[in-house]
Amino acid sequence: MHRQFLYLSQMTPQANYRHLGDITQQATSLNRRDRIHAALLFDGYRFCQRVQGPAEAVGALLMRLHKDARHSGMRMLADELLQPGAVNWPVSTCPWLSGYCDALEFDAFDTGSALQGQAALEHFERILRHADLRP
Ligand SMILES: Cc1cc2nc3c(=O)[nH]c(=O)nc-3n(C[C@H](O)[C@H](O)[C@H](O)COP(=O)(O)O)c2cc1C
Repeated sequence: MHRQFLYLSQMTPQANYRHLGDITQQATSLNRRDRIHAALLFDGYRFCQRVQGPAEAVGALLMRLHKDARHSGMRMLADELLQPGAVNWPVSTCPWLSGYCDALEFDAFDTGSALQGQAALEHFERILRHADLRP
């Protein structure tokens, strides 16, 4: 069984832009090992990340993310199990995608009638398509 989740969090004051490089390096090799695909967007203050992969590995990553002092205030926007047939992301070639996006883009997750579930995942897809992704 596969699982995907989407969350929003804030970079902590003790973290800085140098940590983004560390996270990318660490996550790329761990995700390749765990057959996980993650897409992380950063607006200069908030992180929004979608993680997809085998349910057990995704659950283990979620626990590591909760303990990571480089961000805080993790709020789940979506969390669902997927049938293996519904999975079509290119894990072997793409364990990690990251990039910057405009701060306004995350407001739909963060204001009064905040998006949740499928609507949140679809909004994330739209932001990802327009984000300034690293090569
Ligand atoms: C915003 C953010 C996103 C992260 N994404 C991943 C990821 O996709 N995969 C991963 O293995 N670690 C990711 N990490 C790092 C993990 O939190 C953790 O430090 C790493 O998996 C190593 O865990 P360990 O130190 O307990 O061995 C991320 C950290 C942050 C702050």
